[in-house]
Amino acid sequence: MNQIQKEFPILQQKVNGNPIAYLDNAATSQKPVSVLKALEEFYTTSNANPHRGVYDLAMRATQAFEASRKVVADFIGVKDEAEVIFTRNATEALNLIAYSYGMNFLSAEDGITISVAEHHSNLVPWQQVAKVTGASLDYLYLTDGAQISDEEIAAKITEKTKLVSVVHISNVLGVVFPLEKIVKRAREVGAVVVLDCAQSIPHIPVDVQKLDVDFAAFSGHKMYAPLGIGVLWGRRSLLEKMPPFLSGGDMIDSVEEQVTSYAPIPQKFEAGTQNAGGAVALAAAIRFMQKIGWEEITRIEHDLMAYALDGLRQLPYVTVLGGSIPAEERYGVISFNVQDAHPHDVASILDADGVCIRAGHHCAQPLLHHLNLYAANRISFAVYNTREDIDAFLNSLKKVRGVLGYGS
Ligand SMILES: Cc1ncc(COP(=O)(O)O)c(C=O)c1O
Repeated sequence: MNQIQKEFPILQQKVNGNPIAYLDNAATSQKPVSVLKALEEFYTTSNANPHRGVYDLAMRATQAFEASRKVVADFIGVKDEAEVIFTRNATEALNLIAYSYGMNFLSAEDGITISVAEHHSNLVPWQQVAKVTGASLDYLYLTDGAQISDEEIAAKITEKTKLVSVVHISNVLGVVFPLEKIVKRAREVGAVVVLDCAQSIPHIPVDVQKLDVDFAAFSGHKMYAPLGIGVLWGRRSLLEKMPPFLSGGDMIDSVEEQVTSYAPIPQKFEAGTQNAGGAVALAAAIRFMQKIGWEEITRIEHDLMAYALDGLRQLPYVTVLGGSIPAEERYGVISFNVQDAHPHDVASILDADGVCIRAGHHCAQPLLHHLNLYAANRISFAVYNTREDIDAFLNSLKKVRGVLGYGS
């Protein structure tokens, strides 16, 4: 085990008698000791209901929670930390934008533009907004090279478009979409831009100010933090005019029998008891990533990408989705199909060798249909993966067709 792997207790166990090769990081990443310890420390030293009590322990909980907000804000290039709203995950953050902004600021004359490569979390909420408001829902389709062309951007982001919501890195193709061009076009027509950075944030720096988007959403659990903590960032000017998404305790200024005035942001969007332990652990996950540094993260993950793609390309019965995208333009994930093998069979056969990979539609059914597929396999990397993991994967994959009775 290398130094980074040693920090992940879960990787030290065996699965089905084999060392674990965990290659499903796009679904969720594993958690380092520093994150687990931060969670434990919060619950053993500082747990109380944040923002509620006046006693020392409650203040400690509030301080730990709010200090985590600052860490997140710094990480994504935000100066005004009140613009950082804690949610359960990217899905909740995207729903917050759809229900609070979309439902209230869009109408039947307006258009919403998303890409066909969206995860269902950045697609179904916009369908709902379109259904209720009457706005049109328009799709950016992909070229044969699995990219969004300039022509498509010009054709689908028009004077009618009032909101554009796009994924930064596709959870199926691993390709970075041309965000700069999309933002430029959205600005020309006066549309608000939402960025789903759930898959980019573990792999590349995401500076929301530099990217010049209006909202960004991501989950902690894909970037080494625990399940159940996510982030919505939005521009103050937009967040302030939006109504609350959920209502109840902690999001109010004052409540009378018939009327309520709301707390300022971020509390206006953080109804109910918050996952303060999760936020503290997310801050620890960010520190874990910062300790390794982007240069090293990129070096490790690009090496894995090139090595795995090279190995897959040598197997004539394997088709890589978006196969023409070069390794240096891919981040985090490779999806593929094995000729004559159902993706679930492939994943089960690999599981017997301790290799964890994903099979299915990856919550991106419109994209798979656009590619004339119904399912695929996917491997996805994190900073603790090694070439040995890829070797274990490739060796196991080479057995699949034989196990299914097709020869090699
Ligand atoms: C691109 C993308 N967006 C959004 C999500 C939703 O994340 P969560 O399930 O953590 O809300 C995912 C999860 O896989 C994703 O890959």
